[in-house]
Amino acid sequence: MGKNAIIVGASSGIGRGLAELLSEQGYRVGITGRREELLSEIKSTNPESYVVKVFDIDNYNDVKQHLDKLAAQLGDVDLFILSSGTGKRNPDLLLAHEELTFKTNVNGFTAAVNWAYKYFENRGGGSLAAISSVAGTRGFAMSPSYSASKSYQMTYLEALRQKALNSKSNICVTDIRPGFVDTAMGTGDGAFWIAPVSKSASQIITAIKKRKGVVYVTRRWFFVALFLRLIPNYIFERIKP
Ligand SMILES: NC(=O)c1ccc[n+]([C@@H]2O[C@H](COP(=O)([O-])OP(=O)(O)OC[C@H]3O[C@@H](n4cnc5c(N)ncnc54)[C@H](OP(=O)(O)O)[C@@H]3O)[C@@H](O)[C@H]2O)c1
Repeated sequence: MGKNAIIVGASSGIGRGLAELLSEQGYRVGITGRREELLSEIKSTNPESYVVKVFDIDNYNDVKQHLDKLAAQLGDVDLFILSSGTGKRNPDLLLAHEELTFKTNVNGFTAAVNWAYKYFENRGGGSLAAISSVAGTRGFAMSPSYSASKSYQMTYLEALRQKALNSKSNICVTDIRPGFVDTAMGTGDGAFWIAPVSKSASQIITAIKKRKGVVYVTRRWFFVALFLRLIPNYIFERIKP
């Protein structure tokens, strides 16, 4: 029997790179996002390989129903990756921008990974991964809600890892923490060490297959995150981004 995966947020960027790599590796991939035309474009490259489901994870009460249907179409899913995310610079602390971020990165994230955890619990195991960010390591002034939402994701995934180990449920939970990746989101002012999507996708899939708990992409960002954590508060708070 072939392997099936779901990638939430596969219409562009890292999610798309992951979908294409998994397809090359023989997976049938359920791909989701709001931009139907981009998802259809991916499917047209290899129609047998992809199942498209269009939905907005911000409508978090509907996420379960969409993912139930997608999983039923695929048959049996052993890999789930959440790549949906958003975040803008918000120097004026516009509440509307903050709201967009936590709707997707907190509410939608929670609904989606929650669904995946319960799906794998019923199935007897599986791999659950989500893309957080090095930006969740500390609070960054240019986008408070982005850092805070990524920090939420990192903590939530840690809690799921503990839950999975305590219950011996054979669910592997991987927290993927990229630095900058060459996508629309990762190439703004101040970006450096920008990794190609293909390299990032390859490192992510390798880490998931090795059943890693936390992985930095690319690997050098482990040291950046370590350094960020070690900076004392009174110095960190005075850094100008
Ligand atoms: N690029 C980087 O440098 C970088 C660094 C660290 C972490 N990350 C994280 O990596 C993840 C992927 O980002 P990316 O760089 O690949 O950016 P991207 O190209 O903008 O991809 C974001 C994906 O999320 C989907 N998405 C966003 N809002 C959604 C919603 N409300 N409902 C459903 N899908 C939604 C988008 O699909 P639709 O627009 O079609 O809905 C798209 O497929 C994000 O969580 C981001 O925070 C990126």
